[in-house]
Amino acid sequence: MHKIAVIGLGKAGLPIAGVIAKHGFEVTGVDIDERKCDIINRGMNPIPDEQGLDELIKNHGGKNIFATAKYEDARDCDFFIVIVPLFIDKVHNPDFSILEDAFRNVGKILKNGDCVVLETTVPPGTTETVVREWLEEESGLKFGEFYLAYSPERIMTGFSISRLRDFPKVIGGVDERSGNMAFEVYEKFIPKLHKVSSARTAEFIKVIEGCYRDVNIALANELFKIAGELEIDFYEARDYANHQYCNIHLPSTGVGGHCIPFYPWFLIREMERRGKYDHSNLLRTGRETNDLMINYWAEKIILECLGINKFLGEVKVCIKGITYRKGIKELINSMNLALAYLLVKKGLNVFVYDELFTEDELKKLDLRLIEPKDADLVFDCFTLRLELPKKS
Ligand SMILES: NC(=O)c1ccc[n+]([C@@H]2O[C@H](COP(=O)([O-])OP(=O)(O)OC[C@H]3O[C@@H](n4cnc5c(N)ncnc54)[C@H](O)[C@@H]3O)[C@@H](O)[C@H]2O)c1
Repeated sequence: MHKIAVIGLGKAGLPIAGVIAKHGFEVTGVDIDERKCDIINRGMNPIPDEQGLDELIKNHGGKNIFATAKYEDARDCDFFIVIVPLFIDKVHNPDFSILEDAFRNVGKILKNGDCVVLETTVPPGTTETVVREWLEEESGLKFGEFYLAYSPERIMTGFSISRLRDFPKVIGGVDERSGNMAFEVYEKFIPKLHKVSSARTAEFIKVIEGCYRDVNIALANELFKIAGELEIDFYEARDYANHQYCNIHLPSTGVGGHCIPFYPWFLIREMERRGKYDHSNLLRTGRETNDLMINYWAEKIILECLGINKFLGEVKVCIKGITYRKGIKELINSMNLALAYLLVKKGLNVFVYDELFTEDELKKLDLRLIEPKDADLVFDCFTLRLELPKKS
């Protein structure tokens, strides 16, 4: 039986490590966070919001999942799964430094016949180029002496374990042998697995899923603004417009989180590098449309404030819901949070309310808490409703 290493025990890596262990494999989890490794080895779950993970870690942590900060401890593994973050810099170029570090460390312990699978979302072509080079350079092996494949993580924070079980997952090799080898192992713990023709195709599948969401949200946002201008109820129109071939999304304050707002840039930047500027116009416009939604909402909020019988700077504005997604305590690239800061910058008397955050936590974000009922104006970032609680 294969001995599997999972590199990166974060929100994406730990659930899959747990699922693999549940299927009877010996798992070595490698994470630079020693504290996290220690918690896992004591059978405790460092990601409590993740449904079902408590039980998996209780049953397997410190047993057939051994977490360690030392790559050397995974030397006896023959199958490596890498899920560490890839960040995007200020000008939207991918920053490969964490991935490079992880793969160079895997390269140092790689043996003839081992298989490596990347799961982090990356620009198409990454696995067959830089990842292969890092592994070859560090291991002294040539591709062909080891196998290399890509299988995108398609989880949703909070529901990762059920997604791994119920949601189709794809896998593709840098060559045919790698694809077959990786597929044979993955199908032992992923029920709905599909082999695609290449690692590059698998990378593209994940990225275009994000692009589809981003562009469609941008379309919904644009149609929502147009409907408002034409004095049409967008939601009524959307209900009747949607059918088998039409799926107009919901409008929003923009698109947040660590995935969807970044993935279109992978393709936009690659097309720019190739001089194919006209190949990604829509992706770029979608990004801009979504990022500009906070300005649209700020204007609406200010106009509403002007209708209240108080000086503008005295109107207590409550931004309700600051996370990037409802119910998940995550602020990464949250456009709701960005809206609150934008209104502060514009000089409004801004407060926030989010049931997931305490007053102290909000203070650390330089934000003040208010109960919605005590505000003059409440903007609910998830329903997009503006309310005047004191009038009711
Ligand atoms: N969380 C999600 O919902 C989600 C969904 C789909 C895809 N993904 C993919 O998974 C990737 C990782 O996301 P995440 O949510 O798990 O991130 P995370 O921040 O929760 O976890 C990353 C983990 O990697 C560890 N790490 C960092 N550098 C390391 C290194 N050099 N060696 C070993 N470990 C290292 C960190 O200590 C951390 O525990 C993302 O970049 C994305 O491509 C995540």
